[in-house]
Amino acid sequence: MRISVAIDGPAGAGKSTIAKMVADKFNLMYINTGSMYRAITLIALENNVSYKDIDGLCKLIDDLDMEFQNNELILNGENINDKLTLPNISDNVSNYAAVPEVREKLVYLQRKMSEKYNVIMDGRDIGTVVLKDAPFKFYLTASPEERAKRRYNELLEKNIDVDYDKILEEIKKRDYIDSHREINPLVKAKDAIEIDTTSMTIDDVVNIISSYISNNLNNIIK
Ligand code: CDP
Repeated sequence: MRISVAIDGPAGAGKSTIAKMVADKFNLMYINTGSMYRAITLIALENNVSYKDIDGLCKLIDDLDMEFQNNELILNGENINDKLTLPNISDNVSNYAAVPEVREKLVYLQRKMSEKYNVIMDGRDIGTVVLKDAPFKFYLTASPEERAKRRYNELLEKNIDVDYDKILEEIKKRDYIDSHREINPLVKAKDAIEIDTTSMTIDDVVNIISSYISNNLNNIIK
């Protein structure tokens, strides 16, 4: 039986850092679904395809080949990860991610990956939609201010010029769109374990998740 771990939560809750560490511990493939939505946004913006142009978007997606290698998205054979966290992409991604046809195509690809590999997948709708039957589900949160601080430091480290207040505003806007969209909104799955990471270290969170998985793994693979 395949092992799958779902991690959901709002922007900056620590999902990707934590998912990568848990992936290493349990030898899982890390699938960052946010980077898939970001990649669509990047390609659409480069080709001047608006999120309102459904046919244009569908054509773009059908021509894309997406796979994960070493925790990173490879798009048509190219590693484009440096471009995916640029502010312009963050600002636009929630609009593209709210398009039902885009979600349908990406959810299909994500499920295919989970059928082929043992995965830890992070995003907004993993425990509720993509991997509804996953045996391990976690929902990470933190206050908007703490999440904006983390994102601010992350971008500074990459030498990207940023303004804290703008990031806080962008995070709040994205939280709103992600949790109010009609299709697959960001919401905690009933059976997910919620962890408020506001005053926790990364290691604290990794330890909670890892202990839970270790303690319950035998029941899953029986
Ligand atoms: O890293 P961060 O939390 O900023 O966001 P992300 O995981 O890279 O996701 C970027 C955006 O993609 C989110 O704000 C959502 O609008 C969208 N997304 C989604 O709708 N469903 C997912 N499963 C993952 C991301």
